[in-house]
Amino acid sequence: MSDKLWIFDTTLRDGEQVPGCQLNTREKIVVAKALEELGVDIIEAGFPISSPGDFNSVLEISKAVSNPIICALSRAVEKDIEVAADSLKYAKKGRIHTGIGVSPYHIQYKLRSHPDDIVERAVKAVKYAKHFVEDVEFYAEDAGRAELDFLARIIEAAIKAGATVVNIPDTTGYCLPEQYGAIIRYLKENVSNIDKAIISTHCHNDLGMATANTLAGVQNGARQAELTINGIGERAGNTSMEEVVMAIKCHHGIDVHTNIQTPKIYETSRLISKLMNMPVQPNKAIVGRNAFAHSSGIHQDGVLKHRENYEIIDPKEVGVHESSIVLTARSGRAALKFHLDSLGVELEGDALREVYEDFLVLADSKRDIGPKDLLSLVGKYLDDS
Ligand code: KIV
Ligand code: ZN
Repeated sequence: MSDKLWIFDTTLRDGEQVPGCQLNTREKIVVAKALEELGVDIIEAGFPISSPGDFNSVLEISKAVSNPIICALSRAVEKDIEVAADSLKYAKKGRIHTGIGVSPYHIQYKLRSHPDDIVERAVKAVKYAKHFVEDVEFYAEDAGRAELDFLARIIEAAIKAGATVVNIPDTTGYCLPEQYGAIIRYLKENVSNIDKAIISTHCHNDLGMATANTLAGVQNGARQAELTINGIGERAGNTSMEEVVMAIKCHHGIDVHTNIQTPKIYETSRLISKLMNMPVQPNKAIVGRNAFAHSSGIHQDGVLKHRENYEIIDPKEVGVHESSIVLTARSGRAALKFHLDSLGVELEGDALREVYEDFLVLADSKRDIGPKDLLSLVGKYLDDS
């Protein structure tokens, strides 16, 4: 049996930081219940110190959801940790996620501090969070640009202080997959107590690498992945859950499994898009409108002969009813015949060729060719029969 990859959803925390996408508590509960149905293991429900509304959302989600662990974010600050703990008081399983910046940028310019002080604050925060919950996750913010020996030192100290999960964020989406994978490998090889904690990935998509980096992290030993639905999040977004889950499902070489009920992916994606008023780009992997739409003649002919000629995923596996054969001026006769057959019009040979010529003329001037257009194109043949 392969290892389990824990799916940590941060749609309601990192995802919800997108300008204009804020949700109220009632909407967040709807999302949390959908994530529970989807099979996520951990829901990061918010950053309770940030506002009374966020505090209340974590509190209410904790009451409304039973199976997933509910996680609350805090900085490495006592007051943050106390408020996070308070927001989790109704959670059946609660986790505090606390941490601090670890890159030279963050240490020098954001925190105006020095490495020894950062380690001390990290250890203090983890130990303090342990007074409230057993499950404490430590994040090393901007780990993607940290010095490796310092990163290893602070992770070791956080685990010694009681962290059960150590999160290695590529906060600025800077890493290439090989670099991110190498960071995780370095920690596996150089942190003496690393086996006492789960390593988590947390990647941002500034260079479009978030999914690749997450998978590189998993291939090098991470066993939790922090993800959002549709990849929403700060700037260019976070790692998209649907991409990671389906990449793992398609590639048996990535030897982990998840608990995600993949036929629920599409409806969850639509729910988030609708509630957050954030459209999904049409060519988005797995959940975009065109992810299972075939429009050129060669591809349409191929997919009509055998779906797997041009599809690596059965659309039903992610909750999409069926793939679509879209009629455009690039479509071939196979696609036209497919659509005519579905309208009950069976044309062959010269008749099909003739209608196809007329179809191309129409398709050059019209973007959407629908059943009405097709019926008017074949009218002559219908009248003759
Ligand atoms: O990107 C990041 O570093 C974060 C942390 C707060 C976990 O979101
Ligand atoms: Zn983040």
